[in-house]
Amino acid sequence: MGKLIVGVLLGWLLLAVALFVWLHHGHPPVAVADTPFPMEKTIVHVPLNARIDREMVKTPPIAVSDENLIAGARIYREQCASCHGLPGLPSSFGGEMYPDAPPLWQQHRNSKVVGVSDDPPGETEWKVANGIRLTGMPSYKKVLSDTEIWQVTLLLANADKLPPQVVEMVKQPLPPVNAAPVAVAKPAK
Ligand code: HEC
Repeated sequence: MGKLIVGVLLGWLLLAVALFVWLHHGHPPVAVADTPFPMEKTIVHVPLNARIDREMVKTPPIAVSDENLIAGARIYREQCASCHGLPGLPSSFGGEMYPDAPPLWQQHRNSKVVGVSDDPPGETEWKVANGIRLTGMPSYKKVLSDTEIWQVTLLLANADKLPPQVVEMVKQPLPPVNAAPVAVAKPAK
């Protein structure tokens, strides 16, 4: 019995040493351009989807109204467009992330779906509120209010059938950060 325990412990120790050596010298993927681990996407997405299925809210607490869609458009421009792009204008770097930030205004090939308009709103709301670990997707729980998260969610859930004025709103340029003239201190003589 004693020998068995020593054997098992030794086995674990060897495994830990081998793992350390591989992490140090084995060139595991760390750069965005590296080849992913085998089955990396599946390993990450199975638990993520299971969790979302369990936790997502089935019925949105707010209605799809012009007011909510326009508010969603403003939030999208401010918080999301840099990574996920605008209608007709992809993000300059969203495709250079790993995993990439999917373009949320692009129509899917051979279908009318735009971005995530085919996902249940509760799934999108979960992703926006909680973020997606080890990807660039932030958690907005402490950045936006619950209502704001639902407003931007409803915007994306209806991206395939938005009134044209809402699409125009999404594309409006943001006001400049320093809209007011900034006082510049004169250099001392
Ligand atoms: C810093 C970059 C970044 C910002 C800002 C960002 N996202 Fe993301 N987002 C990502 C990345 C990267 C992914 C892909 C995650 C993955 O593959 O699992 C993602 C995934 C998503 C998805 C899931 C897409 C799908 O195909 O299932 C949704 C929905 C989403 N983001 C919505 C938003 C919304 C709404 C905002 C703004 C409130 C936002 N994101 C802001 C980077 C970003």
